[in-house]
Amino acid sequence: MTHALITGASAGIGEAFARLLAQQGYSLVIVARRQERLRELAGELEHQSGVSVTALTADLADPNAPAELTRQLDERDIRPELLVNNAGFSIREGFLESDWSTHAREIQVMMTAVTELCHRLAPAMREQGRGHIINVSSLAAFAPAAPGLLYTGIKSYVLHFSQALDMELKPHGVHVTALCPGFTWSEFHDVMGNRERMNRLPGLLWTTAEEVAEAGYNAVRAGKPVSVPGRVNRLLAGVSRWTPEALRYQLGRRADL
Ligand SMILES: NC(=O)c1ccc[n+]([C@@H]2O[C@H](COP(=O)([O-])OP(=O)(O)OC[C@H]3O[C@@H](n4cnc5c(N)ncnc54)[C@H](OP(=O)(O)O)[C@@H]3O)[C@@H](O)[C@H]2O)c1
Repeated sequence: MTHALITGASAGIGEAFARLLAQQGYSLVIVARRQERLRELAGELEHQSGVSVTALTADLADPNAPAELTRQLDERDIRPELLVNNAGFSIREGFLESDWSTHAREIQVMMTAVTELCHRLAPAMREQGRGHIINVSSLAAFAPAAPGLLYTGIKSYVLHFSQALDMELKPHGVHVTALCPGFTWSEFHDVMGNRERMNRLPGLLWTTAEEVAEAGYNAVRAGKPVSVPGRVNRLLAGVSRWTPEALRYQLGRRADL
C-alpha cells in the first residue's frame, strides 16, 4: 500500500489534496486539529474511493506534534511515500500588535513542523529509493515583505529549504517541490480576517484549491523543484523577481492587507 500524509487536510488546499490523492489510489493519513472534519472526510473518501484513510488529530503548533505523529505512524507500520506539508495560516496584525505566542505558533506550524516532518519521514523514502515531498509555500515567497508580516519570510524559507532538500535527495530518487500558490479559494482569508477586502480582488487572480493540488502533484511527479500554479501567478512571480530591491521595498511598504 502506498501512503500519503497530508497536513491541514480539514479544509482548503489540504482537503483538495486528500480528494485528489484518494482518486490516485493512495492510502491516506490526514492531519489537522478539527477531528470531526477529518472523520467526515475520511468516511467519505473511504466510501467513494475504497482507499484506507487514517485521521490523526494534531496541533502542529505543539513542538511535540511531529515526533508524536511519527510515533503513531510507526505504531501502524505506515511509511508515507508522499508527504504534503500544507497546514498553515497567516495573521494580519503588525509584529508588535500580536503577542509572542501567536508568532511562535506561526513559526512552529509553517517552519519548524514542516522541516521536522521532512527530517523524520524522508530517511525511509531515501532508503526505498523513491518518494515525493510537497511543501506548500506561497506566491508571497516571491513578493516583497509587507509591514510587520512574518508570513512572507516564512514562505521564502519554505521555498529555499525545499529547493535545498530537493538538491540533496534527488540523486536518491526522492523529489521535493515547493508549491507556491497565489490567491486560492479556501478558508485561509476567513481565518486571517480579511475576507471582505480579498473578495474585491479581480477574479483572474484567484485559483481553486483543486487546481493548486493538481499542479503540485503533477510538479512533484515530474521532479520540478518549484511550482507556481496559474499563468497570471507565474507572470507575477517573474515580474517580482526582476523588480529592483529598492522598488520592491517601496511597493511592500504600501501593502495594505
Ligand atoms: N489560500 C491562499 O490564498 C493561499 C495562498 C498561498 C499559500 N497558501 C498556503 O496554503 C496552505 C493551506 O492553506 P489553505 O488556503 O488551504 O487554508 P485553509 O482553508 O484555512 O486550511 C488550512 C489548513 O491548515 C490547518 N491548520 C492550521 N493551523 C494548524 C495547526 N496548528 N495544526 C494543524 N493544522 C493546522 C487547518 O486545519 P485545522 O484548523 O482543522 O487545524 C486547515 O486544514 C497554507 O500553508 C497557506 O499558507 C494559501
